[in-house]
Amino acid sequence: MSTAEHDAREYVLGTGRDELERLGLQHRLWGDAAHEAWRHGAIAPGANVLDVGCGPGYAALDLANLVLAEGAVTGIDESASFIAHLNAQAHARGLDYVRGVVGDVQNLEAALPGARGSFDAAYARWVLCFVPRPEEVIAGVASMLKPGGRFIVHDYFNYTSMTMAPRRASHDKAVAATAKSWRDRGGDPDIVGRLPRLLERCGLEVTRLRVHQRLGMPGSSMYAWPHVWWKVYAPKLVQMGYLAQSDCDELLRDLNEIAGSTTDFVVVPPVYEVVAVKV
Ligand SMILES: C[S@@+](CC[C@H](N)C(=O)[O-])C[C@H]1O[C@@H](n2cnc3c(N)ncnc32)[C@H](O)[C@@H]1O
Repeated sequence: MSTAEHDAREYVLGTGRDELERLGLQHRLWGDAAHEAWRHGAIAPGANVLDVGCGPGYAALDLANLVLAEGAVTGIDESASFIAHLNAQAHARGLDYVRGVVGDVQNLEAALPGARGSFDAAYARWVLCFVPRPEEVIAGVASMLKPGGRFIVHDYFNYTSMTMAPRRASHDKAVAATAKSWRDRGGDPDIVGRLPRLLERCGLEVTRLRVHQRLGMPGSSMYAWPHVWWKVYAPKLVQMGYLAQSDCDELLRDLNEIAGSTTDFVVVPPVYEVVAVKV
């Protein structure tokens, strides 16, 4: 495989230390929504849960605290370094019922041989928006679930509604560049718009659909979400040729300006929550 082909396939946000830490912060900020969705998905002691595209495993380790040793958590991700992080954390905490597996979520049957029909629930957060073939992820999850099993998703629709208030050109350019960088690699920042149809086609009935719209108010913990996001991703957009260095500099100046403001704020992307049941 040529370097260009590999770069085009690689997870667009990268798997380095900066992304590992950003995902940890993001999990803290959105952990309340995750726990609420997991309650609606009836994740309880004894459940066998699959974390689809688990990253370094922040959600998987929380799920372990819900299912306890009578249950099990399997995290799957294509990043060997993220899976190594999850397995090391699980080992350090003595959680022998948590395992991380390296694999492509678009081919769950190959990654988890013999596991068909064995899971009570599956969770996928911010993964379907990055994969070129989300329908294959959903078909795989449907086959991995027991009848009555739940698929819980947190993901994006209307991503480009993210903006600064008042609007600033630097931010609007960076948001458009972000969406393009995902789409060019086969992702879809509007994936939830077509998710109910894709789920239905695979025999998964949507029982809950809602949206979390939050604001990054300066001084609030949620402000750190866009702030850290842009500090990590805007330079990557420049590197990949999606954003001019001058726009990146202006964006980071604007973010610092808002951080010290008593009047301005950031409207973060809406996060949609879907729970579907295998009929
Ligand atoms: C934004 S991160 C979300 C991680 C985790 N779900 C969370 O909420 O913290 C997206 C993850 O999807 C993984 N990923 C992307 N495409 C994948 C694929 N085809 N197969 C397996 N994992 C994939 C990336 O490696 C990354 O860990």
